[in-house]
Amino acid sequence: MADKYTKKFVFPRTINLLLPLLVLAVVGGATYVPVVAGIGMSPENTDVGYQPEQPVPYSHALHVGQLGLDCRYCHTTVDQAAFAAIPPAQTCMNCHTNVRKESEKLKPLHTAWDTGKPLEWVTVHDLPDFSYFNHSAHVNKGVSCVECHGRIDHMGEEGVFQAKNLSMGWCIDCHRKNETVLRPRDQVTNLGWKVEDLANAQPGSESFDVLKALQAEKSAKQEDPKQITQADLGKYLQGKYKIRDHQYLTACSTCHR
Ligand code: HEC
Ligand code: HEC
Ligand code: HEC
Ligand code: HEC
Ligand code: HEC
Repeated sequence: MADKYTKKFVFPRTINLLLPLLVLAVVGGATYVPVVAGIGMSPENTDVGYQPEQPVPYSHALHVGQLGLDCRYCHTTVDQAAFAAIPPAQTCMNCHTNVRKESEKLKPLHTAWDTGKPLEWVTVHDLPDFSYFNHSAHVNKGVSCVECHGRIDHMGEEGVFQAKNLSMGWCIDCHRKNETVLRPRDQVTNLGWKVEDLANAQPGSESFDVLKALQAEKSAKQEDPKQITQADLGKYLQGKYKIRDHQYLTACSTCHR
């Protein structure tokens, strides 16, 4: 049923005005009450640039950009679950029991640790509850954090800000042309990665296997195996990771369940 609609309707921004009617008229009924109830309630934290003040001036630029920590050191569930965990004080204390322990900036962390009362990080990215999102479904299919969160590794003590608008049109836009963003899974947390870097893949890595397969494909077609483009890579990975078709990925029930 859903597929019929996605074929008929493309998604200009003005669709926001039409959708409630569409939903009421066509889908109808109780299942979409939450959707309709959510209309008009666009909280400030869905805006691009939203950057709330945090209890501790934690810098991704320092910890990721300079110290080289992987995202999964702290956001431990991002490749296993829908939700990307926010680290508990324990994770920070692995280092900060010793590192800079007298720092003013770390006072709230030490208080949290001593009292057992967790730090109250303010949520930056927040979708309405009637839309379904799942991190592992993206990260394990070669969609990098950078596509949705921007250069987190450049964001400093002023905190994380929202880089993309997270609208329905934005989600669907990528679902329609995901071959333009797919990369080998072992590079999803390497935010600065570009398709040209594939040539430097280390033997034994997934990227290296992908590189070899693409070079063989190019040679078989009498093309230059050194000229691998994002289009080549995206198309290859759609097959390798069994990415489903546009029909499925743009159907209402994929994101509203
Ligand atoms: C040392 C721990 C640590 C590492 C490593 C880390 N983060 Fe974070 N991250 C945090 C903490 C703490 C917060 C909450 C504070 C904030 O939002 O600034 C956070 C917040 C975020 C948020 C915003 C969450 C929200 O509320 O919407 C995103 C997105 C994010 N991190 C992405 C990343 C990415 C991508 C990487 C790897 C490139 C990464 N983080 C590495 C600790 C970490
Ligand atoms: C792997 C070790 C490690 C982990 C884990 C870690 N940090 Fe750090 N952190 C450092 C280092 C190293 C510095 C830089 C110290 C310096 O500048 O001398 C630092 C600096 C900081 C500073 C700046 C302190 C100042 O006085 O300028 C803050 C704030 C901070 N970290 C917060 C956090 C928080 C919050 C977490 C947990 C989400 C965390 N760190 C996890 C190693 C770590
Ligand atoms: C396809 C887009 C997309 C990708 C890729 C993505 N995120 Fe997110 N992220 C989101 C959205 C959307 C939210 C808000 C989710 C919600 O409100 O339910 C979010 C929320 C978060 C949060 C806050 C906690 C949560 O789960 O709500 C953290 C932390 C985070 N992302 C980290 C990461 C890291 C680290 C990566 C890469 C390993 C990553 N994200 C990849 C879209 C993405
Ligand atoms: C940058 C590209 C991109 C963006 C942006 C994006 N997605 Fe995806 N999404 C994908 C890819 C690729 C897949 C994997 C498809 C597959 O496995 O067949 C996927 C899969 C999913 C799935 C899993 C489908 C399933 O049944 O396993 C859901 C749900 C989903 N996306 C929701 C969203 C939502 C909601 C947003 C916006 C907040 C969003 N996506 C933004 C690329 C993207
Ligand atoms: C790829 C994921 C995805 C697909 C497919 C999708 N939606 Fe959405 N939808 C979302 C997200 C995310 C939001 C919340 C956007 C926001 O907060 O701005 C949303 C919001 C809505 C809203 C609330 C109005 C608004 O813009 O805030 C309605 C109504 C809606 N969707 C109906 C539909 C219908 C009908 C379909 C099928 C034709 C559909 N959606 C397909 C992700 C999706």
